[in-house]
Amino acid sequence: MTTYDVIILGAGAAGLMAALTAGQRGRRVLVLDHAEVPGKKILISGGGRCNFTNLECAPDKFLSNNRHFAKSALARYTQFDFIDMVARHGIAYHEKTLGQLFCDGSARAIVTMLLDEAARGDVTLKLNHAITDVRRADHFVIETDKGSFSAPALILATGGPSIPKMGATGFAYEVAKRFGLPIIPPRPALVPFTAGGAELDLMTGLAGVAVPDARVSIGKRAFREALLFTHRGLSGPAILQISSYWQPGETVRLDLLPEGDAAEALLAAKRSRAKSELKTILAQLVPSRLAAALTPEAAAARALADLPDKLLLAVAEKVQRWPFIPVGTEGYAKAEVTAGGIDTKALSSQTMEAADVPGLYAIGEAVDVTGWLGGYNFQWAWSSGWAAGMAV
Ligand code: FDA
Repeated sequence: MTTYDVIILGAGAAGLMAALTAGQRGRRVLVLDHAEVPGKKILISGGGRCNFTNLECAPDKFLSNNRHFAKSALARYTQFDFIDMVARHGIAYHEKTLGQLFCDGSARAIVTMLLDEAARGDVTLKLNHAITDVRRADHFVIETDKGSFSAPALILATGGPSIPKMGATGFAYEVAKRFGLPIIPPRPALVPFTAGGAELDLMTGLAGVAVPDARVSIGKRAFREALLFTHRGLSGPAILQISSYWQPGETVRLDLLPEGDAAEALLAAKRSRAKSELKTILAQLVPSRLAAALTPEAAAARALADLPDKLLLAVAEKVQRWPFIPVGTEGYAKAEVTAGGIDTKALSSQTMEAADVPGLYAIGEAVDVTGWLGGYNFQWAWSSGWAAGMAV
């Protein structure tokens, strides 16, 4: 059995960050992963350019049963600390929109940077290792298909079950449960919605249509970004954002014209362009395929002047206050992250160590802290990884 100071399960964003931090502090660190390459999700993130952080990162951009939990780590290792590392490695980047920072080139540069920093800390990385048992005697003992390893400190960094075909698992929850840590029920987040019935027919017909500026809301929580119709329902950044807040059965309010007043525009057009068709006028407000789909059959071939105000107001209502009740989501297969996870009440917000299991830490997506779309989830991985790496 080989002994280390720290064993980290998971060579993803959080695990590599914890490893390089602990390694550079002189700890003997082993990182174990069942995948054949480290940082797989980093490599595919941000369309291959990795949206590695957000200039506007702040605790209110995260969901958790304890909304205060992420504050300490986010304040101690900030987006600017990570940006410094990126700049030190000469990685060119740009702000795309809403504070989101992306690599100019490939996301691979971020993985290479993390591995270079880990190498500076003499971190040992063992890939292709299937973990068969985790137990605690004097030390934590990890059994794998290629040997046993032990250490007084163990960091769980195996992420959440989103995108299982990439090797994502709920393994961290199993290990946490074994050590008595509570779990907030995990659920897919940042995930497209599915529709049903007539709404599905409508949305399928509109698949590929994008509304560049839509406001979607559940109660007071609202996001204004692009929305996309799909063969199964709705997607696009605005939908992914609100999906993290959605509970089954809840209504999502869609405003496809947040800057305008559709009712006023249609009634005004009825006076000023009485001979025009509804779909023509509507197409000046929303994409033309959407305008055609929202025009009732009875109104299709008639002039605006012949249409009752009531009908125009009903169409305007759909454009700006569409009450959409998703049938469900596209699930873990399409979810960019997993919400819920290891309950933060069992962990120290300073160190990520389990209060009742000294030496056991949990970081990254495995923990019940979930960021908005836009680089926030990586920032949580960096910040929580750093906090644990500094503590072990
Ligand atoms: P992560 O999933 O990165 O790493 C977990 C590691 O554990 C993996 O290497 C895995 O192989 C390993 N593992 C899992 N189970 C194991 C087991 N049983 N045994 C051994 N090893 C195991 N976020 C963001 O901020 N900006 C972005 O641009 C994107 N883009 C994006 C695109 C797509 C398609 C997805 C799916 C996700 C994103 N994200 C994102 C989210 C981001 O990728 C995610 O939040 C972080 O990678 C989480 O980091 P972790 O280290 O916690 O888990």
